[in-house]
Amino acid sequence: MDLKLNNKVAVVLAASKGLGKAIATALAAEGARVIIGSRDEVELSKTASEIKQLTGNEVIAIGVDVSKADEIEAFIAKAAVAYGRIDILLNNAGGPPFDKFEHFDDEQWQKAFELNLLSFARLSRLVLPHMQKTGSGRIINIISGSVKAVLGNSVLSTSMRMGVVGMAKLMADEFGPYNITVNNVAPGLILTDRIKHTLPKDADPEQALQEKAKSIPLGRIGKPEELAALVAFLASEQAAYISGTTIQIDGGANRSIF
Ligand SMILES: NC(=O)c1ccc[n+]([C@@H]2O[C@H](COP(=O)([O-])OP(=O)(O)OC[C@H]3O[C@@H](n4cnc5c(N)ncnc54)[C@H](OP(=O)(O)O)[C@@H]3O)[C@@H](O)[C@H]2O)c1
Repeated sequence: MDLKLNNKVAVVLAASKGLGKAIATALAAEGARVIIGSRDEVELSKTASEIKQLTGNEVIAIGVDVSKADEIEAFIAKAAVAYGRIDILLNNAGGPPFDKFEHFDDEQWQKAFELNLLSFARLSRLVLPHMQKTGSGRIINIISGSVKAVLGNSVLSTSMRMGVVGMAKLMADEFGPYNITVNNVAPGLILTDRIKHTLPKDADPEQALQEKAKSIPLGRIGKPEELAALVAFLASEQAAYISGTTIQIDGGANRSIF
């Protein structure tokens, strides 16, 4: 299937590694011109070169900390002039820490809010006028399966992601008339550094991963490229009638029927 991304320009945040990198690679492989952002500019440039080598498509790397308003503004200003348009916005950020509710103070709540909810609002607000100008667009938010089923110790993540779900639904309403779709992708366990870092320090990593996979009907942890394939579809012309939804990708792990 040709996803018709050939002349599209995609901005992918938190893309030096993990899910963001896999998504940027998939979009570039489908022919999109991709602009990637995250904090570590050395890693980001390496990633851009890697994707370019792999796909043959140009990738632009621009450093940005998505929790900072002034950096977001400078990032989108540069991204917008790079190719003169923005068609696809992939909102993504590092995840907040896991712990019990009683261990988080105001500062940690504020940080999670700025990183995982306000950054998505700010980036969308700055990109929307470019999409409105061309009369179409795709906004895709990476959130978490914790919006569908309880995940222990994920109170910061779940609270902010629930906010994104509500925001996306209202944005889908408001920007539908411009052919702009807004959707959320909710991963279960997808193998990235973030997941590797949550494994018990004293355990054998392979065994610990197999242990985690036992509760997943498909019997394994997901691959970043599997999530990226879903995102590429949501970004495509063929997904023009999908908006305001939250799609899980978790190997069947979520126990909820709805
Ligand atoms: N992997 C999963 O199974 C899973 C499941 C549920 C939810 N999620 C969520 O999906 C998101 C991505 O996760 P991942 O697994 O890909 O994590 P990862 O492998 O740790 O990668 C995180 C990426 O985010 C970037 N980043 C972190 N803080 C940033 C900031 N302030 N500004 C800009 N970029 C930033 C990092 O680059 P720099 O350090 O260079 O900035 C890196 O490129 C997270 O929010 C995570 O909670 C993941």
